[in-house]
Amino acid sequence: MIPVVVKNRVMETQNVVRLVLARSDGKSLPAFSAGAHIDIHLPSGLIRQYSLCRLQVEPDYYEIAVLKDPQSRGGSLEVHTLAIGTELVISEPRNHFPLKQGQGHVLLIAGGIGVTPLLPMAQTLQQEGRSFDFHYCAKSPNQAAFVEALEKGSFADKMHFHFSQVEGSGRMDLVSVLSRHAFASELYLCGPADFITAVLTQARMLGWSEDRLHKEFFAAPELDEIASDNETFQVKIHSTGELIEVVPEQSMFDALDANGIYLPVSCESGVCGTCQTAVISGTPDHKDVFLTEQEKNSGKWVMPCCSRSKSAILELDL
Ligand code: FES
Repeated sequence: MIPVVVKNRVMETQNVVRLVLARSDGKSLPAFSAGAHIDIHLPSGLIRQYSLCRLQVEPDYYEIAVLKDPQSRGGSLEVHTLAIGTELVISEPRNHFPLKQGQGHVLLIAGGIGVTPLLPMAQTLQQEGRSFDFHYCAKSPNQAAFVEALEKGSFADKMHFHFSQVEGSGRMDLVSVLSRHAFASELYLCGPADFITAVLTQARMLGWSEDRLHKEFFAAPELDEIASDNETFQVKIHSTGELIEVVPEQSMFDALDANGIYLPVSCESGVCGTCQTAVISGTPDHKDVFLTEQEKNSGKWVMPCCSRSKSAILELDL
């Protein structure tokens, strides 16, 4: 855990605040690679993940940009109340969304505040002299963070803005953008769940292979919608043989916690990967957006904060 202080806060749009964080003890912050995020422990006790939205020019600062989302469970609203001088605790940077090494063309596609992890990716690609295009989709320029900087920045020639509410701009022509790169590029995609689903569906139809599709959700899909068909199942603890019942209204994490078995959790919505647990036997019913399709199909892992079981018993490596 790293103690930090809010050094600066800047409203990038009416609803997006950028916070600059520095260590409160004056030491340097750990290095990170593009796509990394940190956990922020908010004063209320909530823990939330935010992408580091700018490569470090000097090792003293991290920057995050957070959209105030009235639909959220409180984290983003609280971030918007943080004043300069507020002391917080953060985790070391973790990266579940890294850029792959290589020389091929890279396609970056951001939906709204999903731009944040893609900004350091674009910086990295530019520094490495790699070929890339960066498509940024939003409703309008004044609702899209960093537009002005991106229009004037060092990779302005790689930027393609798509503003759905601006005449003459309009929505991105997905088929056209994805067709141009279908057989050789890597795609990095971040945004809301329905945006990501639409892009991935189109990419797969156009022949993109799964290993070239990289995504990060900045919010989980509506998990509540699927709660109605939840069924009771049992979790078997591999080390002890203990069986723990998980009823429809409970998450696996809650049931384990109620029985004294602690799992680390953070987002509690299948986004961050903190609770990833190995499966010994049984068939997980994946509800998360963290594991890849291949990982889900392998049945080797499960995210107990949100996923469930298709088999009557799910044996976990605990
Ligand atoms: S706690 Fe984030 S995926 Fe489970």
